[in-house]
Amino acid sequence: MRTDGVGMKNSNRRLLIWLFLTSMAIFAAPQALAMSDGTDGKSKEFAQPETASRCMSCHGPGGISQNPEWPNLAGQKAPYLRSQLQAFRDGSRKNGMMQNVVNGLTDTDISQLSHYFSQLPSANP
Ligand code: HEC
Repeated sequence: MRTDGVGMKNSNRRLLIWLFLTSMAIFAAPQALAMSDGTDGKSKEFAQPETASRCMSCHGPGGISQNPEWPNLAGQKAPYLRSQLQAFRDGSRKNGMMQNVVNGLTDTDISQLSHYFSQLPSANP
């Protein structure tokens, strides 16, 4: 190490700093996603609401359904998801399965679910 030229040392240090900053950025990104609570209005990333796990048994873990009878939710427009959930809840759109699921949802639940599923990557990007 003592035989290294000064210029060599500097560029090694710069490389180390660069690697350090890059790995920080990679590790910080998922954390930012997890920390977003979806209510600050600034962030485009909405954390998974608790109620979403109920939906995934039918609509698939990432909102992409494995069953031809059950629609994908991932990547669908949030206002559309919201209006359909409200329609199931008030009975203007009829489906036995969905009716049971949305009965207990509040407007806040519906809004969070709509934003959450709309941001997930769709099946056909
Ligand atoms: C028991 C299975 C089941 C569960 C659980 C379920 N869904 Fe559904 N969902 C369906 C089926 C089946 C349809 C298609 C209804 C139809 O044909 O009108 C549907 C339709 C929808 C639609 C309309 C999609 C479209 O493209 O028009 C939305 C939005 C939706 N579900 C959201 C949810 C959300 C949010 C949850 C969790 C709170 C949920 N679903 C839980 C079975 C389920």
